[in-house]
Amino acid sequence: MSGIPWETVTLTTLSRDRTIFPKLLAEARDIAMRGQEGKLVIHTPWGIEWKPFGLPRRKRPLKSVVLGSGIAEAVEKDVSAFLQRRQWYADRGIPYRRGYLLHGPPGSGKSSFIQALAGSLSYDICVLNLSERGLADDKLIHLLSNIPERSFVLIEDIDAAFNKRVQTSEDGYQSSVTFSGFLNALDGVASGEERIIFMTTNHPERLDPALIRPGRVDLSLLIGDASSSQAKRLFIQFYGRGEEEPSGWEEIQEDELTALGNSIERLVEEEMQAGGKVSMAALQGLFIRSSAREAADGLRSLFKEQRTLKP
Ligand SMILES: Nc1ncnc2c1ncn2[C@@H]1O[C@H](COP(=O)(O)OP(=O)(O)OP(=O)(O)O)[C@@H](O)[C@H]1O
Ligand SMILES: [Mg+2]
Repeated sequence: MSGIPWETVTLTTLSRDRTIFPKLLAEARDIAMRGQEGKLVIHTPWGIEWKPFGLPRRKRPLKSVVLGSGIAEAVEKDVSAFLQRRQWYADRGIPYRRGYLLHGPPGSGKSSFIQALAGSLSYDICVLNLSERGLADDKLIHLLSNIPERSFVLIEDIDAAFNKRVQTSEDGYQSSVTFSGFLNALDGVASGEERIIFMTTNHPERLDPALIRPGRVDLSLLIGDASSSQAKRLFIQFYGRGEEEPSGWEEIQEDELTALGNSIERLVEEEMQAGGKVSMAALQGLFIRSSAREAADGLRSLFKEQRTLKP
């Protein structure tokens, strides 16, 4: 009964009928799988293995993450093309891997999009924190070559992973994944195993060219601050009539909603022309706390506030 997080259960039977056990195990497995169905499972390293972290989460609908025009589609298309080309890679002796880098300002939807995409493909996510205590080059190689089936590897804030090499934290701990160790782990021994890595950063300019060369990062995309059309789409999505339970705000007729959406679009457009910007996360925050009719005023104050805060 030890071995956290796993437990050992010993089963014995008085009868000679051992077929009881496979049946019991199959049923237990079915019940456990049912609990994960339609959910997103996050894995984290446990020693040199991956273990599910926390309970499976509800999937986030892919369309709830509103990216710039064509961006979500480009990534989706690239991932599905990759997934259909296993044999093509094998025939040419190319390691069956794909790397993605999503870069851009905070709160633009990078992490949300990766989670939603994984959910839509029924993939899990293996979150790798390169500065985690106790993680060293050799463990990393092992982890990256033993990824659970149908999983994305997610490495957030990749620019920050190696800056700590020379820094020692208060308790004298030093990160021990080296940059060259990481590159080696990425390249690894060629094998037919599928591997899809997503990396995110707010500072692509700080990344070493060796990291983002093709083969390590195959597709790099900017996920930017809100454009005026993204702002409008998020607005409509927020206050539009969904299939689910009521939002709690008063119902708004379709044409009023469109008119309000247009004024949000115009406000963002004007602000951008004046050199301002707003993140999708800030818009989400505003929409959560205001009704559809209050949102435009709220946005005006948000812009005013941002301008006074500007250095
Ligand atoms: N494009 C978007 N569409 C819908 N919601 C968004 C979008 N961008 C951000 N959000 C909302 O803002 C919050 C933060 O988003 P998220 O964590 O995905 O940003 P991020 O780009 O990963 O930021 P960071 O660079 O700081 O990690 C989430 O609650 C998310 O729902
Ligand atoms: Mg993020």
